[in-house]
Amino acid sequence: MNQSHNPGQPQITVAPDLDAVANAAAQHFVEAATRTHGAFRVALSGGSTPRRFHELLAEPSYRDQVDWSRVEFYWGDERTVPPDDAESNYKMALDTLLGPLLRRGLITPAQIHRMPGEAADPAAGARAYADELRQGFGVAAGELPRFDLLYLGMGPDGHTLSLFPETAALSVRDQLVVANVVPKLNTTRLTITVPVANHAAVVAFLIAGGDKADALSAVLEGPYDPTLYPSQLIVPAPGELLFLLDKAAAAKLTRVG
Ligand code: 6PG
Repeated sequence: MNQSHNPGQPQITVAPDLDAVANAAAQHFVEAATRTHGAFRVALSGGSTPRRFHELLAEPSYRDQVDWSRVEFYWGDERTVPPDDAESNYKMALDTLLGPLLRRGLITPAQIHRMPGEAADPAAGARAYADELRQGFGVAAGELPRFDLLYLGMGPDGHTLSLFPETAALSVRDQLVVANVVPKLNTTRLTITVPVANHAAVVAFLIAGGDKADALSAVLEGPYDPTLYPSQLIVPAPGELLFLLDKAAAAKLTRVG
């Protein structure tokens, strides 16, 4: 596994395959959780890539290294579906990580801060989650919550969270969470906004699969064009930016050792 690290620059780790990416992410989670004190506030990503990472965290070799009583679970985005829907990011996390932790009594439901995808009015759901963030992080109106660790994925189109190319949420700077209309998916999604993502202490992209190689090359090595490649908007400062990649996703990068 090779790593490039220039302070202030993305820290890129390339692992052989998705399982190795998941192990690297689980090891990093344990290190990050154990070096913090007090509440450890994490925003989980949706999609399919995090599944294996979540499953590993729920296995004794990683699970038993974490004081789960300090971990608060949030989401970076959610689909406008009920929590028991196969499309729900919450359901994916419940099935792969949170359920096993709950069943072992390692966390309580109060530590799970679900984004209300089922809200009949997604904009109201977004406002409610913004309130939940302010309350959970103890921040006043106008202040930004700082996630200790924000997980992100990236689509083949370069989107991250539910910040899809050429959608309204890309330019929002005065709200914490918005309901973003995504015409190409014919849906609306709830998502945290760029300021919230960029205020995180650590942002970790988990990206795997050859279908991401073109977008990743454009995001990391192409011209700055965040309307087309929204993942370019994620530049946490002074936080850390990590890319945990498998070889297939990194295949078109030229500047990784
Ligand atoms: C979502 C995610 C989204 C995801 C990417 C990658 O709600 O789907 O927030 O940004 O991370 O689409 O998804 P895969 O991991 O399934 O490739």
